[in-house]
Amino acid sequence: MYIRTKLDLAKELGNMKDAGLYKEERIILSDQKANIDVRYPADSKETEVLNFCANNYLGLANHPELIKAAHETLDKYGFGMASVRFICGTQDLHKELENKIAEFYQTEDTILYSSCFDANGGLFEAILGADDAIITDALNHASIIDGIRLCKARRLIYDHSDMNSLEQKLKLAREGSDIWDHSGLEAMPNAPKNIIIATDGVFSMDGDVAKIDEIIELANKYDAMVMVDDSHATGFLGKTGRGSIEYCGSLGHVDIITSTLGKAMGGASGGFTTGRKEIIDMLRQRSRPYLFSNTLAPSIVGASIKAFDLIAGSDDLREKLKNNTVFFRKRMKELGFEIIDSVHPIVPVLFRKFQNDAQLATLVSRDLYNEGIYVVGFSYPVVPKGQARIRVQISAAHDMEHIERCLTAFEKVGKKHKVI
Ligand SMILES: Cc1ncc(COP(=O)(O)O)c(C=O)c1O
Repeated sequence: MYIRTKLDLAKELGNMKDAGLYKEERIILSDQKANIDVRYPADSKETEVLNFCANNYLGLANHPELIKAAHETLDKYGFGMASVRFICGTQDLHKELENKIAEFYQTEDTILYSSCFDANGGLFEAILGADDAIITDALNHASIIDGIRLCKARRLIYDHSDMNSLEQKLKLAREGSDIWDHSGLEAMPNAPKNIIIATDGVFSMDGDVAKIDEIIELANKYDAMVMVDDSHATGFLGKTGRGSIEYCGSLGHVDIITSTLGKAMGGASGGFTTGRKEIIDMLRQRSRPYLFSNTLAPSIVGASIKAFDLIAGSDDLREKLKNNTVFFRKRMKELGFEIIDSVHPIVPVLFRKFQNDAQLATLVSRDLYNEGIYVVGFSYPVVPKGQARIRVQISAAHDMEHIERCLTAFEKVGKKHKVI
């Protein structure tokens, strides 16, 4: 029975390979840190490269204190819970981490998930229905898009970070009528009851920060709520690491925040939603990934608690990350590369001045790899046509010597391909 599907899939996989869109895993043989041992292609020999493509922003992925906390929790609380939270899967540790996150973000309550993908996937349908609407940034993460798809609320998409476009959609939404993006849904007879504006805090392909303060102003004007996914900012953006919301001076004014523990906060896995008490309470009643899937293993919870304590206790890692980022961005511009301006350690290096931008992103990243610098090139359809790029990610795990080596390699390879 499988033969027809097998042939179809093989053909499609072949097409992906021909189009250069087939993703291959690179096998890492060491722990996650600045210099990693990689085997790529899979049958080649092991090579040491500098890692400039991890979300390990604070370098906590192999931090001795997190590893110690994970060991201690493993010894005391065991390996797993063998249950979802509401049956017998909640330990005092889970509650401790939830409270810590609420305190951190100055919110009323928090609910943990096994990933931020789950947090976003289980958010909208649990609190909104067919009488409600969601207005979403065009560049929001896939998990927000999927979460919205699962929900009966109507949807409008605003142009990326464009406040005029957002205001126009809010006006339309408040007027109601039949303006919604969902195909196949009946026209909505009345204006929506509840509206949520959904945005990433930092957009992962461009490294730009959402205009959260302006979004909140518009939300207040049109009686809407605001949801921010802070995955690429929790722990390091803003003066005390409280993310894009702190960076925009908006702590305490965002109704719903989702984020991940799988990036700056140790990088293992886990996500959360934090915000208004009744919303979190309803998620505990109705959110499907929470009700029907195990949550975080105790060792991850223990290490995550330690991660929040570490970043509350010292600015050192944040400062190092900031200095590394400012230096790298400045030097790349001086070398003549086109980068997208921002304050964020995601540094997209663009090739849009060149006709063969997609090919250049691939060739330059391959040559950088041969120079011992691990970065990834992205082209259409991951980013818009003509906007192929290499996404460099800076970390507090990098020492200045690593950053200098990366810049030297960029200069050499950039000159070889006449990009600079
Ligand atoms: C903005 C954003 N939201 C959610 C996620 C998913 O996070 P997790 O790995 O915890 O599922 C990511 C990860 O790529 C992300 O960038």
